[in-house]
Amino acid sequence: MKLITCYSFKGGAGKTTALMGLCASLSSKQKKIALFESDQNRPLTRWKQKALRNDAWDRQCEVFVADELPAMVDAYGQADLGGFDYGLVDAHGGPSDLNNSIIGSSDCLLVPAMLSPLDIDEALATCRYIIELLMAEGLEAHTAILRQRVPIGRLTASQRAAYEMLDLLPLCETPMHERDAFAAMKERGMLHMTVANMANDPATRLMLHHSQRALDELAMISAFIEKALQG
Ligand SMILES: Nc1ncnc2c1ncn2[C@@H]1O[C@H](COP(=O)(O)OP(=O)(O)OP(=O)(O)O)[C@@H](O)[C@H]1O
Ligand SMILES: [Mg+2]
Repeated sequence: MKLITCYSFKGGAGKTTALMGLCASLSSKQKKIALFESDQNRPLTRWKQKALRNDAWDRQCEVFVADELPAMVDAYGQADLGGFDYGLVDAHGGPSDLNNSIIGSSDCLLVPAMLSPLDIDEALATCRYIIELLMAEGLEAHTAILRQRVPIGRLTASQRAAYEMLDLLPLCETPMHERDAFAAMKERGMLHMTVANMANDPATRLMLHHSQRALDELAMISAFIEKALQG
């Protein structure tokens, strides 16, 4: 099982949303996903409950509560034995022993960052923390910044400058744009299941096109990660 972690010192950077999107994209390719819930607010547990109510939960996926180190070790062991292809970790913000163990065990770390100077500072500090920790332990993991909530229309001058500055860093090729379909995932459930349900419902066919574009974007992000993990 490959472990992919969304991590950022900054609250509200888009970690959980990126993780939900990746989960949908990978499970649409018949991958079995273990979601490790390390945030004590339990956003993934609530996500699963709502998704089940909307018939938008892929039953190949499971949420494991892992907000302390022993629970994480136990959950990882269970998921590994359970034949899950990927473990996706929604790490809580800031440094902690739990986060250090998660970083050290990850095959891939995604650091979401919006296009503001504060977000970029925090993403740089997060990347630096990750790299120093991995180097101190003699470990390696693919680490990339994910440009999150990029406006779909024209960027302001400062957003454009931020976008170009991030181009100089290890970066996930495809950004995640600011989309209603992404914001709605936590209420609706897994995006690929929602898209399939919409296709069967004439009332939601107008939204289908936008949701499909969001899913295509996630497919590019997940393909980038899968390629990094193979190579
Ligand atoms: N690409 C996106 N398009 C639209 N809305 C987004 C996108 N990414 C995140 N959001 C919204 O931004 C808010 C913060 O996102 P999210 O909860 O994923 O951040 P987080 O880093 O997990 O936050 P926390 O530190 O509280 O765990 C949420 O309301 C979410 O719906
Ligand atoms: Mg979160």
